[in-house]
Amino acid sequence: MSTQTAPQKRVTIHELRRMKAAGERIAMVTAYDATSARLLDRGGVDVVLVGDSVGMVVQGHESTLPVTLDQMVYHCAMVRRGLARAGSRAHLVGDMPFGSYQASPDEAVKHAMRLVAEGGVEAVKLEGGAEFADVISRIVRAGIPVMGHVGLTPQSVHKLGGYVVQGKDAERAQQLIRDAHALEDAGCYALVLECIPAELARLITGQLRIPTIGIGAGPHCDGQVLVYHDLLGLETEFKPRFVKRFAELGEAASAAVGRYVAEVKQGTFPADEHSFHAPSLRLLQVVPPAAAASGDEDHAGVVGAPV
Ligand code: KIV
Repeated sequence: MSTQTAPQKRVTIHELRRMKAAGERIAMVTAYDATSARLLDRGGVDVVLVGDSVGMVVQGHESTLPVTLDQMVYHCAMVRRGLARAGSRAHLVGDMPFGSYQASPDEAVKHAMRLVAEGGVEAVKLEGGAEFADVISRIVRAGIPVMGHVGLTPQSVHKLGGYVVQGKDAERAQQLIRDAHALEDAGCYALVLECIPAELARLITGQLRIPTIGIGAGPHCDGQVLVYHDLLGLETEFKPRFVKRFAELGEAASAAVGRYVAEVKQGTFPADEHSFHAPSLRLLQVVPPAAAASGDEDHAGVVGAPV
């Protein structure tokens, strides 16, 4: 299979700002490996996010909290290689995992640098409001673009009391608006709005100069983001309200595996077209297992000789 494609103009943080000004919607999707990154780039997504959702959809944890910086670097590097092979138009962002930026701005800068230098991302994303403005401005001053993330911030699941919609009352909504402005002022180039009322997302989107990217935040954001496994229906057991499955690949994958199992059991796979032949070899004999067990390794299995 050929994977060579002509290089395309890369999406940059300036292009994303232009898209907002021009009213062009931004499509962002998560990826965790090279294959999915290539598929997304071919599908035309503008932004690929190596989300710490990797902890839930790939690693099988119940939250994103156990994901480590080393693991994020590992996944970012895989996605970077996949995009590079695809000719890469998409802008690549990597999540800063829990514990990698909360302790101090110095640590946050060092860890963001690892995601860029070793993981190959063009920007980092971190969760939280005005309380992280100093961290964000330090990372931006180090030359690394930062995407903010407010609303339902999964790394704060215990503080929030679960995965629940945020900003439903006027007080919390006002706080989220203040947070959004603080993040823009701190230097964020884009902002994820997760699980907030559509009315609030519309207000924030209208007030900010930087693009907003919504997930469970209604249709008025400048862009949308979905988790790869949700978008493709790979996760069949759980479907939050804000997810739309654009395919049912989970069902298709199980059905395909079922057909493979049936053909292996029936002996119809592999067929001749899946087998290798060496016409110059003549089968001389097949040594019975007893002979193989006697330790005569030269004669264990099929013995062939060049003709
Ligand atoms: O980790 C993630 O996948 C995310 C998106 C859902 C925005 O943060």
